[in-house]
Amino acid sequence: MIYFLAGVVAMAGLLFGYDEGVIAVAGSSLTHDFPMSDLARGFTTAAVPLGALVGCILGGRLTERFGRRRVLMGAAALFSCGALAAACVIAVWMLTIARFVLGLAIGVAAVVAPLYIAESAPLRIRGGLVSTYQLAITAGILLSYLTGLVVVGEGSWRVMFALGMVPGVAFLIGLVFLPESPRWLALQGRGSQAKASLHRLRGATTDVTAELAGIQAMADAEQRSAAHAPSLLAPWVRPALIIGTVLFFLQQLSGINAVIYYAPTIFRHAGLGSDKANVIATVGVGLVNFLVTILAMALIDRWGRRPLLSVGFAGTAATLILIAVAVMKPNVFPSWIIVVALFGYIASFAVSLGPLPHLMMSEVFPLSIRGAGMSAASASNWGFNFIVVFLFPLMLSTIGLAGAFTLFAVVCLGGLLFSITFAPETRGVSLEEIEAHLRAGEPLRSLGLAKTRTAPFAIGNRTPLP
Ligand code: BGC
Repeated sequence: MIYFLAGVVAMAGLLFGYDEGVIAVAGSSLTHDFPMSDLARGFTTAAVPLGALVGCILGGRLTERFGRRRVLMGAAALFSCGALAAACVIAVWMLTIARFVLGLAIGVAAVVAPLYIAESAPLRIRGGLVSTYQLAITAGILLSYLTGLVVVGEGSWRVMFALGMVPGVAFLIGLVFLPESPRWLALQGRGSQAKASLHRLRGATTDVTAELAGIQAMADAEQRSAAHAPSLLAPWVRPALIIGTVLFFLQQLSGINAVIYYAPTIFRHAGLGSDKANVIATVGVGLVNFLVTILAMALIDRWGRRPLLSVGFAGTAATLILIAVAVMKPNVFPSWIIVVALFGYIASFAVSLGPLPHLMMSEVFPLSIRGAGMSAASASNWGFNFIVVFLFPLMLSTIGLAGAFTLFAVVCLGGLLFSITFAPETRGVSLEEIEAHLRAGEPLRSLGLAKTRTAPFAIGNRTPLP
């Protein structure tokens, strides 16, 4: 059941990715029907992250009140309506509103989906399972790019937008069959339902006594202190807030969505060649992103979070600098170098900066304010996503591709420093242990240190987890 749950819930990521990617490939047919200024294009493109910013702020409150599953059902319904509306519009402002609504649904789901998986997963495979969410995002992006290759001609953007309804409806149907999160049920004082949910997740004959006791004890402690539920700014919670928000700031300012939303434009600026070649290279970006995310899922619970973060930031910084130099010296570097470096950039992102912020935000916040904490982290994700996507066309026409990528590289170097000096290791540490560590006022960075030391930096290392 847990794999089925992860598969269904991760569909929220598919919707997220599809709507991010579709605007890149729908762009030319859309502007043919609705000629628009750079500003209008930036705004229509950025309407999804803007809606998602609002959605993720609402999502935390909604899920604390109504649970994980019901809120996701609402988001799935809203998503399907938004996709239909986007396909039927007759003016740009209508499209902007439809994309804003889609964004709302995506934002709500972006908070609740990883949380729902993390709270339902067994400790040993929590990292890998939550990362199915990121895998689904990349699958959604890839699917949208492939749609751009297959659905061509006048008005093709309507078909592309309408296709988004299919995963929306499938998501809604899948959710009907899932149990509610045992941790949320325990927090509501519904102990017997929490037990039934655990049995459905782990298997009817599995002994869930110890796991349930751990969850129940933490939920009881949370309820006792409910009157004084900690503020997100409480000194002991602050390190979690910093991890959640700064990781997303770094993820977005690494420039990933300049590439995801504008890949064909970037290839054109890099002088790659025909429109067809640009779209094929764009599909290549989507494919590398997807395949390397699968690798990341295998590594996250083996190598650990911190080593992967460092590898990712180092790789993105190096490839961005290479691209910037190659763009500035077209006589020295042929354009294929830019394509290869961009694939290297995407691979470095996908193996770490892609999945890890989503995973770690679902791990670090204390249970009673996990929803609010994840809202704050997601707001950072979508807020900075909006800024990059909205400003990128302007950056291209002012400081150029090389200037923009140099700025992104500087952020990645900052990210490398942050991973080395601040990021905790949450591999193999239960959500309850993480919370106890924070409450004890221990520096977050010391979390899991002993476990990392026993886990050499090697693929296939299978240090037993507690
Ligand atoms: C980010 C998205 C990005 C995607 C690319 C996600 O982790 O939050 O903004 O488009 O990765 O794969």
